[in-house]
This record gives sequence, C-alpha cells and structure tokens, in this order.
Amino acid sequence: MSLIEIRNLSYIYSKDTNCPKTALSNINIDIYDNEIIGIIGHTGSGKSTLVQHFNGLLKPTSGGIYINGLDIWKNPKKIRDIRFKVGLVFQYPEYQIFEDTVYKDIAFGPCNMNLGPNEIQNRVIESIRMVGLPFSILDKSPFELSGGEKRKVAIAGVMAMKPNVIVLDEPTAGLDPLSRKNFIENLKTYHSREKNTIVIVSHNMEDIVEISDRVLVMNNGRVEMFDRTKDIFSNGDVLMRIGLDVPKITKIMFKLSNEGYRVKRDVFSVKDGAEEILNLFRCDGGLND
Ligand SMILES: Nc1ncnc2c1ncn2[C@@H]1O[C@H](COP(=O)(O)OP(=O)(O)O)[C@@H](O)[C@H]1O
Ligand SMILES: [Mg+2]
Repeated sequence: MSLIEIRNLSYIYSKDTNCPKTALSNINIDIYDNEIIGIIGHTGSGKSTLVQHFNGLLKPTSGGIYINGLDIWKNPKKIRDIRFKVGLVFQYPEYQIFEDTVYKDIAFGPCNMNLGPNEIQNRVIESIRMVGLPFSILDKSPFELSGGEKRKVAIAGVMAMKPNVIVLDEPTAGLDPLSRKNFIENLKTYHSREKNTIVIVSHNMEDIVEISDRVLVMNNGRVEMFDRTKDIFSNGDVLMRIGLDVPKITKIMFKLSNEGYRVKRDVFSVKDGAEEILNLFRCDGGLND
C-alpha cells in the first residue's frame, strides 16, 4: 500500500475572488515507504503548493490525500496529528524560528510531543549534528545566526520530531557547494538510519540525482513525469523542452554523443563521466564512423 496517495488533487488560490489562480490540476501520485522522492520544476510550477498538502497545511480545492490509506481531511480536527507524521520544512524556513535560543527552538517540536527531558535532549543533539552545526550554537539566539545557519536550525527542528515523512522545500538553496554536498550526505545517513521517507524539492539537479530514488517533474501545476531518477534524466530532451536542466556532466555526455562520440547518455556523476571520456582515449578516439 502507498504511504502517501494523492488522488485527483486540484488547488486554486483565492478561489472566491475575482482573481482565482489554479496552482495544481488533477495530481495523482503514490509515494511508498522508505523512498526518497525528488521534486523538480520551474518556479511557479506548483512544487511548494503541492508539498504543503502533504501535511495538511493546505486543503485541496478538490481531490484527496491519503496517508496509510486514511483520508487526512476526513476529520479536520485531527489534522494537527498529521504534522507529527509528516514534517515540513518550508522554502524559507528562517521565518519559522521564534524561540530565544537555538536549543529551545529545536526542542519545541519534541516538547509538544510530550517526550521526556532526556529524550528531548538526545534528539536536539542528534539533529544539530545531522545538519552539521557545532554544539556551541545551541545557546545562541537564533537571531544572531546567518541565513544558512537559521535554515539548518529549522531543518534540525523538524528532524528532531522524527516524522515518518520529512518534506524539505529547497533546503540547499543559498548554501555553498561544499555545505550542499555535506547536507545531502548527512541526509542520506539520516534516511538510512531512520528508515523514513524523504521528499526533497530542489533546483539543483546534482543534488536530486545524488539522493532521489524517483523524481517528480512538475510543469504548470501538472505532473509532467514521475519515474526512476535514471529514467527521468535520460529523458533530457523533455526536461530541456520545459525549461529544466540536467546535471552538467550529463549535458557534456549528450553533447559528445551528438557529435558522434561513443559515450553513454545516461551518465549522472562526474566519476562515471570521467570513466566514459577515458574510455574514448583507450579506444580509437571513439568517433562513430
Ligand atoms: N498565496 C498565493 N496566492 C496566489 N497565488 C499563489 C500563492 N502562492 C503561490 N501562488 C501561485 O501558484 C503557483 C504555484 O506556486 P508555487 O507552488 O509557489 O510554485 P513553486 O514552488 O514551484 O515555485 C504560482 O503561479 C504562484 O504564483
Ligand atoms: Mg517553491
């Protein structure tokens, strides 16, 4: 059975006004336990609107969301319980921070779950380590932190609740390449330890390739493609047609292949790309006749 099932979901902002805006049209997707799902799509394609439905922050204009087979809107009074199961880190999480120390901010979620003080402390420490911040930051005021640090604190706060599903809306935006790489590595470790489900929205194709089992491509409020990562990026032409990129190394392989060199087109890591190029030298120059 699917963990998250979305059926015929449509969402219209400002529905009862003179300027309604359809952000999602008839979305049907299934997400399974223990998967890592990447979501890509150009700005305005509906990614943030979609993920805010996963934990009941937005209510579908029509259609339904089922978690473990249960309609999350069947009893609207219970919608808060969904937020402990599905943790969402917003696109601009720095605005989610409000306590006077980083420690209290990360502990806020676990406190609301009525956990004991030792368990809360363990979770705060574990989460701060996971996002790659030093322990010395715990006593600071969140308002003394940089934008990137605030974002990591917000992510740690959601991780500390250990939700079954963690949804991250552009978590690496604004991070430098090394921090981004570390963050993705830590997220993979967290996933294999917690055996949870992760949904990550990102503009960075390298991150998406590195971490996702399957990729959902949004285009104009609709699902353009939803498939295994390898199959999505082998379809580079479709991605580029709707204004999306493929990883840089994949683009180089497409170019070489179009020029007639015998290289694979489904290459997604620099390591595999280097191997393909070295193979050209090992052979006869690699040009097709
Ligand atoms: N609060 C809002 N009111 C009206 N329209 C909105 C609102 N938030 C988003 N939209 C519109 O809905 C569409 C989808 O937005 P969004 O889900 O933020 O896309 P993405 O995250 O892919 O950039 C866009 O056209 C956007 O302008
Ligand atoms: Mg967005």
